[in-house]
Amino acid sequence: MCGIVAYVGNKPCQQLLLEGLKRLEYRGYDSAGIAVLEKGKLRVCKSIGRVQNLEDKLEENGGLSGNLGMAHTRWATHGGVTDINAHPHIDDKVGIALIHNGIIENYASLKTYLEEKGHTFKSQTDTEVLAMLIGELYEGDLERAVQAALREVTGAYSIAVICEKEPNVLVVARKGSPLIVGIGNGEYFVASDASAIVSHTATAFTLDDYNVVKITPEGFHTSTIHNVPVTPRIEQLEIELQEIELGGYQHFMRKEIYEQPKALRNCLRGRIDVKEGRVILGGLAGLAKELTKLRRVVLTAQGTALHAAMIGEYLLEDLAKLPAVAEYASEFRYRNPIIEDGTAVIAVSQSGETADTLAALREAKERGALSLGVVNAVGSSIPRETDAGVYLRVGPEIGVASTKAFVGQVCVLTLITLFLGRRRFMSTEHCSELLKALDSLPEKIEQVLTQDEAIRKVTEKYCDRENWLFLGRGYNYPTALEGALKLKEISYIHAEGMPAAEMKHGPIALISEGMPAVFIANRGRQYDKVMSNIQEVRARGGHVIAVATEGDHEIKRYAEDVLYVPDIAEPLSPMLTVVPLQLMAYHAAVIRGHDVDKPRNLAKSVTVE
Ligand code: AGP
Ligand code: GLU
Repeated sequence: MCGIVAYVGNKPCQQLLLEGLKRLEYRGYDSAGIAVLEKGKLRVCKSIGRVQNLEDKLEENGGLSGNLGMAHTRWATHGGVTDINAHPHIDDKVGIALIHNGIIENYASLKTYLEEKGHTFKSQTDTEVLAMLIGELYEGDLERAVQAALREVTGAYSIAVICEKEPNVLVVARKGSPLIVGIGNGEYFVASDASAIVSHTATAFTLDDYNVVKITPEGFHTSTIHNVPVTPRIEQLEIELQEIELGGYQHFMRKEIYEQPKALRNCLRGRIDVKEGRVILGGLAGLAKELTKLRRVVLTAQGTALHAAMIGEYLLEDLAKLPAVAEYASEFRYRNPIIEDGTAVIAVSQSGETADTLAALREAKERGALSLGVVNAVGSSIPRETDAGVYLRVGPEIGVASTKAFVGQVCVLTLITLFLGRRRFMSTEHCSELLKALDSLPEKIEQVLTQDEAIRKVTEKYCDRENWLFLGRGYNYPTALEGALKLKEISYIHAEGMPAAEMKHGPIALISEGMPAVFIANRGRQYDKVMSNIQEVRARGGHVIAVATEGDHEIKRYAEDVLYVPDIAEPLSPMLTVVPLQLMAYHAAVIRGHDVDKPRNLAKSVTVE
């Protein structure tokens, strides 16, 4: 979702800005633009579509030269996808250029005020209003004008601003949408995501909400929108360049599916003691006493992260004997939720920036919940606002369709469950047995990956069907939801996931001749019930694709196609049974000729509501 890259320093910046945008393409966008201060004059170029279109347009117009500039990929919220609505937006008085991620919620009233002041607008966006407001409030100091304007604004923003009257000043600010400043040698790199900075410098700091940073080639200083000085926490970025490059794979999604064994090993490293039946989570150690007294857990997330949270709900109740519920963050935050004493909220998120998940976390905290984060992106907004948390450590996830992050989220939720379980009713032996199984997972995923070609062949048989069902029970009901989401979001095939038993309460009417129905039918407590559901589908002409446990030959009598996974303790099985579903979705998208890593309309991180 939208991307910001900005630069001030001792080098010409056009190419550097375009490369930064390309590193952010995975986040999803619909148009792009760039502004450079060239000998004190603003030069701007904008284009709908891919960054490549912008690059071609720049080429046609001779390119831009200058050492101060910024670039943006837009994910439209206010105003259609047009060149005019693309960023940067320019004011009509001072020569200010602004790019913006987020939403200016009170833009309409501000626009009326500015029109009464004689300003004329070109675009339909909320962003142009902020550019115009800064121009209106400019009295010779860009930093002050930005602070003054942001004091009038409600909503979420990360912005970069330059001005013809201050040819070596870059001002950036943030509230509710991530922004990072990379510190080079006499040069500074600003971006909405570390992946656009890491090839230039690893030394950086993340802005906090209401921070404003004024940057020149000589240095920077940070304050609030009320001009109160702030000392930023400068850190070393942990991302390695090769983690955000394709590395020989055709797509990031394929790379990340294949990285899952390594990702799990990294997630588990140093956190389990199989012999002693212990889980070591440094991030929770300080709260161990409070956590032991927990009486309820609310897990909140969106999308794939919610499916992981739903598995967390089963894990916590089944293994830690803790009442738990997984909630859509977007619903939880507005539902006037009851948070009684002894409640913890766990925000689950790959990006750590999902607007609804962040808002739900804040709502639960305000009502007295202990707040924990299960997040991948280090230093993102959610971990900056929780009492404690556990990072996934699966490495940056670039593909819009989340894969290794899902497995990482389920793994961390399993670790948290065992961490709590051992402080409640779980025996050392039981925990040790589960940890041993957990430790065997990476190798078992590698075994599943060897079936990639077989999975592709099965997918090929059905990827012309426009409606699929995904069905599972218990721990694998959320896995069925996840399989349906994967297929939907990258192949654009309509798919519905549900508890296998629910089919008889209506959806079975959908079953038509040849309709694919994917059953997660691995060995588990409800295996026989799943087999009955399979029969019900077959009796109505549905084609059953079963994900089953190696050695189960019986199921071949009832399913058109069987995809096998190694046997594993049922609570851990979603981290295995999801892999064939990920690969099916991947192959369906490739066969149908879609852009696997940048599916239409989607963004990697939904930082707007
Ligand atoms: C998953 O494949 C989707 N891209 C989407 O549902 C995603 O899981 C959701 O937007 C939550 O994102 P987060 O994990 O970064 O909070
Ligand atoms: N709300 C702004 C617009 O619609 C910015 C959207 C974004 O975050 O890309 O242009």
